[in-house]
Amino acid sequence: MVYVLKYLTVHLREVYGAFVALREHDDQLPEWVGTVRVLSIGGGAGSDIAGFKNFVVDEDEGFYSASAKQFDITRLERVTEWDTLAAKVVHIFSSEGINFRQFCIHNDINEFDPSKYPPYDIIMMSYVISELDDDALDVLVNVISSALAARGVLVINDRNELAVVAKIERLLSNFNVVARSQDKDECWCGIKYPDELRELFKPKLNMKSVRLGAIVERL
Ligand SMILES: C[S@@+](CC[C@H](N)C(=O)[O-])C[C@H]1O[C@@H](n2cnc3c(N)ncnc32)[C@H](O)[C@@H]1O
Repeated sequence: MVYVLKYLTVHLREVYGAFVALREHDDQLPEWVGTVRVLSIGGGAGSDIAGFKNFVVDEDEGFYSASAKQFDITRLERVTEWDTLAAKVVHIFSSEGINFRQFCIHNDINEFDPSKYPPYDIIMMSYVISELDDDALDVLVNVISSALAARGVLVINDRNELAVVAKIERLLSNFNVVARSQDKDECWCGIKYPDELRELFKPKLNMKSVRLGAIVERL
């Protein structure tokens, strides 16, 4: 509960922002044919999935392609502790006429075998890369290389620290980045809290992360 009040909304809005920013490259985005397949690596409580769905159901513009109506979203997570919360969080956003199917794979990225699944059009990693050491980062590169569609979208949201940004750049250097948008400006996440909750839980109100969207091709 404390996580929800302190961090969930701001992490959700950070990921939402990364998807919005990528609109500037909509001429480079993949063709969205049929079901759009989305993978959240280290999905935790599902805030990145909620952020993506917030973007898709956005009343003003919505997803990059108006013809995309079916989204299959998978949360890949090695622990089960987040399951109860995630089961609620991933359903926060919905819209008539858009069909979301939610899946969960309990696995460490070390044991995840993407060849068992069709390719993913979008892969999200929110506050995950900062947790990985160099060996795990190499594993992540291999996972993305096998799991991502030939031309796909990576959305990365993480701590805006030099070491973390260096890891993100190292990861991206393994792909042909066709276009990217990046935002690390600190700003209010746009969510208002009642005064009593704000004083009690001291929620993170400002987006402080590095938020990055990249359109990539596998090398
Ligand atoms: C800081 S949490 C971020 C959760 C969520 N993405 C968010 O933005 O709120 C990092 C998550 O990544 C998961 N994780 C870390 N290393 C992993 C690995 N090697 N394989 C699968 N999940 C991993 C952790 O269990 C944890 O739930």
